[in-house]
Amino acid sequence: QTVAADNAYRPKIHFSPAAHWINDPNGMVYVNGVYHLFFQYHPYSSVWGPMHWGHATSKDLIRWQEEPIALYPDSLGYIFSGSAVVDVNNSSGFGKNGKAPLVAVFTHHNSRTEKERIDFQTQSIAYSNDNGKTWTKYDGNPVIKNPGIADFRDPKVMWHTATQKWIMTLATKDCVTFYSSPDLKNWTKESTFGKENGAHGGVWECPDLIEMEFEGKKVWVLLVSINPGAPNGGSATQYFIGDFDGHTFTTKQKDTRWIDYGPDNYAGVTWSNTGKRKLFIGWMSNWNYANQLPTQSWRNAMTIARELHLAKEGNELYLASLPVGELTKYETQQASLKNITIDERAAVIAKIGILHFPSGFNLTTTADADFTIRFYNKATGEELKIGYDKKANNYFIDRSRSGIVNFHSGFTAKHTVPRISTSKEIKLRLLFDASSVELFADNGLSVMTALFFPTEKYTHVELLSATKAIVKEVAYFTYKQAK
Ligand code: FRU
Repeated sequence: QTVAADNAYRPKIHFSPAAHWINDPNGMVYVNGVYHLFFQYHPYSSVWGPMHWGHATSKDLIRWQEEPIALYPDSLGYIFSGSAVVDVNNSSGFGKNGKAPLVAVFTHHNSRTEKERIDFQTQSIAYSNDNGKTWTKYDGNPVIKNPGIADFRDPKVMWHTATQKWIMTLATKDCVTFYSSPDLKNWTKESTFGKENGAHGGVWECPDLIEMEFEGKKVWVLLVSINPGAPNGGSATQYFIGDFDGHTFTTKQKDTRWIDYGPDNYAGVTWSNTGKRKLFIGWMSNWNYANQLPTQSWRNAMTIARELHLAKEGNELYLASLPVGELTKYETQQASLKNITIDERAAVIAKIGILHFPSGFNLTTTADADFTIRFYNKATGEELKIGYDKKANNYFIDRSRSGIVNFHSGFTAKHTVPRISTSKEIKLRLLFDASSVELFADNGLSVMTALFFPTEKYTHVELLSATKAIVKEVAYFTYKQAK
């Protein structure tokens, strides 16, 4: 691949590293008006390797500024995924002059003992007294030793008000384990959850316990990423709606649910210190092919930051997500077409004209007919098809002829997400950047993210239907570049 291609695929309104490899988002924390995003980073290569915590900051979750590396590997191992908190009461004692320090909690992965698979992942902490710029690792690390579990990682820490303790949610092979602590240094095991719940096609990773509210009542949501075993292959993030009392997580949920059914959203967790607003970001890739994506100088990006909310369908509560409202500042509406009978394809093409990236589409239609939105390049014939299949009652993204697809067999596919909403009206929101599309249907109840790599940009869009459909409205937006 050429430098030109690397640039063509680089997102304009998503975070991507200036150079080299990234995976999971880490340590997201909001402090003094700045959103911090740390991430799994290999600064010397565009494939996975000894992990560091890279760092980026943003005032609006869209425009990101890359900062110097925050954490380097050391004698205890690579720096794997984890979280960060504002230690408001200086419970850790790391704060200087009575100020609240930032404390990062992460996994040390010691590859030297990987062969034995014993004692090779432990939990450690580091602190910052300059708003996340520089970090000092605690000299008492690790703070949680390995109890003999090979997969023992990705601590996500939150303050639990009712018990006045820090709660750590840790991925422990095929379940999560909760720990509590008064000071972020001394941890006590509370309970485990999940051996009998949810999907188990792969190892559990990157959990997050989130305190939310629905109609004035407290609801606890547990995110758990798994790889492999995703609904569309490889990696994805499932969630559980339940309750947490400071010691145990319980749920009545019987089915398996995913925050995003698409192939390219993994290891996502939420920002800490954002109050009631719950903000999520995921790694926009999939372990199936992350190391082989057709860019060379940089590899992998993050999803758009999303705000989470709960939504009721029948008697069930679901977790829904939508792009953060801050995105609208970058948006300009270019066209709005109303009441389109879908065989009038020419009219749609003419009015939207040449496609720009990044761009967005909001589509409103009725759920009684199929439809497909086809993005394509006339010269190459490459196409990306996105739509609603009425019979299967799902939404789909078909990237099988989208461009460069042959770097992994799992990439060439039509992926689907079930429709959960029972509303008669479908509202679909699509967000396109250089090489990604994010689909939010029914106010974020059904979500799907997918990458694509056209050899030439798509130039046209058209609406199709196997039956005959009347689309109420298509609005077309462009976005100004965030860097
Ligand atoms: C998830 C993961 C984590 C681990 C990190 C290593 O993608 O496997 O479990 O901490 O990536 O880079």
